[in-house]
Amino acid sequence: MHFSLIAVCSLLTAAIAAPTANSKRQVVHERRERMPAQWKRSAKIHGDSHLPMRIALTQSNLDRADEFLMDVSHPESPNYGKHWSAKQVAEAFAPSQESYSSVLDWLAEHGISAERVKQSQSLSWLHFDATVSEAEGLLSTQYFEYTHESTGQPHVACEEYSLPEDIKKHIDFITPTVHFDAKVENPKKRRTLSEDEITIAKRQTSTTGHNVVPGIGHSIGSPGDKSLPKSGGKISNLINELENCDVSIVPDCLRALYEFPPNFPLSSKNSYGIVEYTPQAYLPGDLDMFFRNFSPSQVGQRPIFDSIDGGLLQTEVESFNYNGESDLDLEYGMTLVYPQKVTLYQVGDLLEGASFNNFLDAIDGSYCTYDGGDDPTQDGVYPDPYGTGYGVYKGPENCGGFAATKVISTSYAYNEADLTPFYEMRQCNEYLKLGLQGVTFLYSSGDYGVAGNGGQCIDPITGVYNNGTSGMFNPSFPGTCPYITSVGATQVKPGASVTQPEEAAESVIYSGGGFSNVFAVPDYQKSAIKTYFAQHKPPYTSAQYNTSQTSRGLPDVSANGVNYVIAIDGEFEYVYGTSASSPTFGSIMTLVNAARLNVGKSSVGFINPTIYKYPQIFNDITSGGNQGCGTPGFTAVSGWDPVTGLGTPNFPKMLATWLLLP
Ligand SMILES: *[C@@H]1O[C@H](CO)[C@@H](O)[C@H](O)[C@H]1NC(C)=O
Ligand SMILES: *[C@@H]1O[C@H](CO)[C@@H](O)[C@H](O)[C@H]1NC(C)=O
Repeated sequence: MHFSLIAVCSLLTAAIAAPTANSKRQVVHERRERMPAQWKRSAKIHGDSHLPMRIALTQSNLDRADEFLMDVSHPESPNYGKHWSAKQVAEAFAPSQESYSSVLDWLAEHGISAERVKQSQSLSWLHFDATVSEAEGLLSTQYFEYTHESTGQPHVACEEYSLPEDIKKHIDFITPTVHFDAKVENPKKRRTLSEDEITIAKRQTSTTGHNVVPGIGHSIGSPGDKSLPKSGGKISNLINELENCDVSIVPDCLRALYEFPPNFPLSSKNSYGIVEYTPQAYLPGDLDMFFRNFSPSQVGQRPIFDSIDGGLLQTEVESFNYNGESDLDLEYGMTLVYPQKVTLYQVGDLLEGASFNNFLDAIDGSYCTYDGGDDPTQDGVYPDPYGTGYGVYKGPENCGGFAATKVISTSYAYNEADLTPFYEMRQCNEYLKLGLQGVTFLYSSGDYGVAGNGGQCIDPITGVYNNGTSGMFNPSFPGTCPYITSVGATQVKPGASVTQPEEAAESVIYSGGGFSNVFAVPDYQKSAIKTYFAQHKPPYTSAQYNTSQTSRGLPDVSANGVNYVIAIDGEFEYVYGTSASSPTFGSIMTLVNAARLNVGKSSVGFINPTIYKYPQIFNDITSGGNQGCGTPGFTAVSGWDPVTGLGTPNFPKMLATWLLLP
């Protein structure tokens, strides 16, 4: 259980709300809209029972976070490239002294003296024990016991609670109150996602009305994950020639398309991270098989291995669905940046798995407690509560302790509608904070065009995912977060050479793209979006997508994602996906970083303000589309578009531009 309820038999008379506080107007702070499935309200809790209260204080300066990020990331800013340290970030966003003392004063007015109150190390939480009567007086509420119908598990909560008007702004939320974030006993394991697990009150529906299902968060990397790359079958005759890049992509094709060299001068300060989610795992033999053919000096090389939350290279199952993503990402990532090294962040154990939040916790310990911490219904909980045995991690959750590399590429993604706006905004703010520290975050934009993972769209009436023949478009997350760079996919036109313009991917996969239903258009993208709608207004209505022209568009950029040759399970196969595009784009950014670091400059950090300012550093893609949901999708046009973004990289132009920046 999330907290324990301790009944006390004492003569303690509950200290009831001090009358002096009553003159202040009370306003409802949080209210549960509906009861989570399977829970029933039972008796009122006795007033003398004890509750372990936790108050999450609001962070200061969050309203200025975007401004801080632009200050170090906008190419016209005098502070361009002057990234912050982790300590500076923590201090800038810690709750203000005013919040801290106002809340302490308010507690004291209700008889809860300062000696009873402890502050968390991260400065953002206050803890104290209170009797139910004290808590009820403080929050103008009533506490009840709730019972889970199938397990009988008890939970203590209230239906709503209120705060004085002048205190409200200092408090994010308080537990235990309306939230049902307790874990059920004997829960369903990760791959059987079931509706009857507990959802967090008030935070259970996506903006499109889709019902958020528990467990999606840590299901990434499982063999059924539709964001994994797609297999195109075995290759009998390996072709390693530039003449055949329209049917067979090998590292030299990418070098030719984007004009970057092999063996780029090493910078010892440089780093490139690729994130994989267990049970996805690379096979050492596959790396060597690939290197022997395409990069012989790397035979025997392995990525630097960072195991997070029990992350391991499982060898129990070998198949495309278990090795395809990792083999693809590492074979290309390691080859394209050689002699720079690649760090593999292997996240999650074999049983429970992990979510993006678990990874973020490991590279920034302060995120573990930020804004209420992780969501136990979506994120991996460690030690793994589900079982024991091989590959089950019983150690503590990794909070901090892992360094973030300068570029981080992730080829997994959710649908934006899979998760709640609260969950997504919390995570998106974390990308902002890592951007402030000079990290470039790349995510693949999805492989189903305007549809979601697996080709699903959203029924506009019920909010349910359908089979994709109609319905609302279903963009990907974190792609819709404005503080990451979303990477879409292109292909060499059939019969064309590597010197001719590519088109949007239309073989096996379609580049994920569209408009967010959660995030507003960021400043750096406003003019690109405005031009797009002015010149190429798409023929759809709000029944298909967020037509407000005020929401974030994706992807930002693209790179080839069709016909990649990889070594997998001892054979060569073709693969397809933005899963290929993201590590390729990340490799190119890693080379740009190498050049900047070698002349004493900073890493490029958050690149979006720069790339939208200098779209000419990309090869604009102007043909192809991203069909889905029973429509042709959007069309690639001149300038930014929601299929291929600004286009594919032109390395010489990128290098020149970033070497001129401070
Ligand atoms: C998809 O769903 C629609 C509407 O329910 C149905 O008419 C259609 O036959 C389905 N198509 C497939 C391929 O399942
Ligand atoms: C469209 O996007 C805007 C900006 O993010 C948002 O405020 C609005 O609620 C969205 N509309 C719909 C229908 O989702």
